[in-house]
Parts: sequence; C-alpha cells; structure tokens
Amino acid sequence: MIISIANHKGGVAKTTLAVNVADALAREGLDVLVVDLDPQANVTALLYSAEETPGVPLEKVLDGSTSVAQAVIEQTTVDGVHLIGCSLKLANLERQLHATPFASTSLLSQKLAPVTKVYDVIILDTPPALSFLTANALAASDFVFTPLSSGSKLSLIGADDLVAFIHQAKIANPRLKFGGAVLTRHDSRKKVCRLVQEAASEYYERVLENTMPLTTDVDKGQIVNKTVLQLERDSNVSRAVVGIAREMMSITGLESKPKDSK
Ligand SMILES: Nc1ncnc2c1ncn2[C@@H]1O[C@H](COP(=O)(O)OP(=O)(O)OP(=O)(O)O)[C@@H](O)[C@H]1O
Ligand SMILES: [Mg+2]
Repeated sequence: MIISIANHKGGVAKTTLAVNVADALAREGLDVLVVDLDPQANVTALLYSAEETPGVPLEKVLDGSTSVAQAVIEQTTVDGVHLIGCSLKLANLERQLHATPFASTSLLSQKLAPVTKVYDVIILDTPPALSFLTANALAASDFVFTPLSSGSKLSLIGADDLVAFIHQAKIANPRLKFGGAVLTRHDSRKKVCRLVQEAASEYYERVLENTMPLTTDVDKGQIVNKTVLQLERDSNVSRAVVGIAREMMSITGLESKPKDSK
C-alpha cells in the first residue's frame, strides 16, 4: 500500500503529517517506509539527521546508479519506520529527467517495486509543487491525502488545480484514490478554522473527521528530532495524530498487526 501526502501549497504540514502518521502507524504494528520526494529533504532531516546526507539517497535510485534496497535506512529516529532519504541534488535530477524526452511518471513506481511488498505501508512526502516528482508520487500511489492548513481562507485557493492534477494522475494510474483532506493547525474555537472546515468539503470529496490541532509540540519535537508521540504520548496532538492515522487505516483498509505477529 502506497500513500502520498500531497498539496502544492507550501507549509501546510505535509512533512509533519507524513512523519507523525508514520510513527502512529508503526505503533499499530505496521512495517512503515517513508520516502522523501522533496528536495528540501525535510523528512530526511527529521528521521535521519539534519546534518548528513544519506549515503544512498533517492536520487541515486531514480538515476539507476543503485538499487532501492540499498537506499533503505533502517536506523531512523522512529522505531519501526524505515526511510529512503534524499538531498538537494534530487532537484537537479528532477530538472534533468524532466528535460528528457519520454521521461516517465512511472519511474518511481518501477524503482519502488522491489520493496513495495516488504512494507505494509509506504508513505511518500512530496514537494510543494505540482511537479514531475509529485506526478511520480501519485503514479505510484494507491491513495493520496491532502493536508490543508486551517486558519486561513487562502488554504482553499488552488484546490481546483490540485483536484485537476489528481484527476490527471488517476488517468495514468487507475489504482489511485483520493483518501481525503486533513485539516492541520486546526483550532475549532476560531471562526476562520470552522469556515475552512465547512468549505473544504465543497472542494474535496472527503474531509477527515480527525484534525491536527495547532500546537507548539510540533516545533518543540522538531528541535530534539522527536515526533509528537515520542515527545508525549498522552498530549492532545498525540491523540489527534493517532485518530488521523486510524481514520486513514479505515479509509485505506490497512489493519493493525499485533507486535508478536512479526
Ligand atoms: N499542528 C501544527 N501546529 C503548529 N505548527 C505546525 C503544525 N503542523 C506543522 N506545523 C509547523 O508548520 C511548518 C510547516 O510544516 P511542514 O514542514 O510539515 O509543512 P510542509 O507542507 O511539509 O511544507 P513544505 O511545503 O515546505 O514541504 C513547520 O514549521 C511545522 O513545525
Ligand atoms: Mg514538507
């Protein structure tokens, strides 16, 4: 099962959701791989190291110089979550590939094939652009979830472009389904957040009931390379992340596994 987290708007919590949901899914007993498809390499910095580039980053898998299995980092900052990281050089490769006639949006899907069955779920964090890399992510995915930053009316501007892009991706990849929009930085006491929540369902075919609250825990956790669950299991935001992960499981048909079944 491959899940993309995508929205071409920047800073809507794609990466935050990818990393925190990955942790929550691993705690449900699932084997999780996160793939960093954003040349900003934020997932790589959070799950691996803010200073180092992984020895075998994703760009080397995509350019054919190494196999995908060699790129998997098993020792990440989150138990049960493996990573394929990237570096800024992924941006150069994207430019080169994009300029190549017949560059294929199924490249990532082909390259991930050997590990697809090894994991219960593979989560793809995508860049803030409707770009070649995002198209590759959607072409490889079974589901796409879209974080929306609550608290600003601007969150829904551009939704039409994203919906149209996903529609195009579905033509190339008929397996792809829209999982749902996820409200992030949500504060139900704020009128603007309630308005965005109501309006979101006019733009997207599904909006998750669980939302990610506005909290300082995300930034606090990032400073010490911890997910919100690692920071404090019983906080509001941790409960919210578990709720989002479980709702994603029920939408996608993923089932939790007892730890001793491995
Ligand atoms: N629930 C939250 N409450 C408060 N701050 C949050 C929350 N979620 C994310 N943030 C903060 O918002 C910022 C953007 O988050 P993040 O990097 O996950 O977004 P993104 O969509 O991946 O961005 P980009 O488009 O650049 O890849 C970060 O500083 C993050 O710490
Ligand atoms: Mg990001």
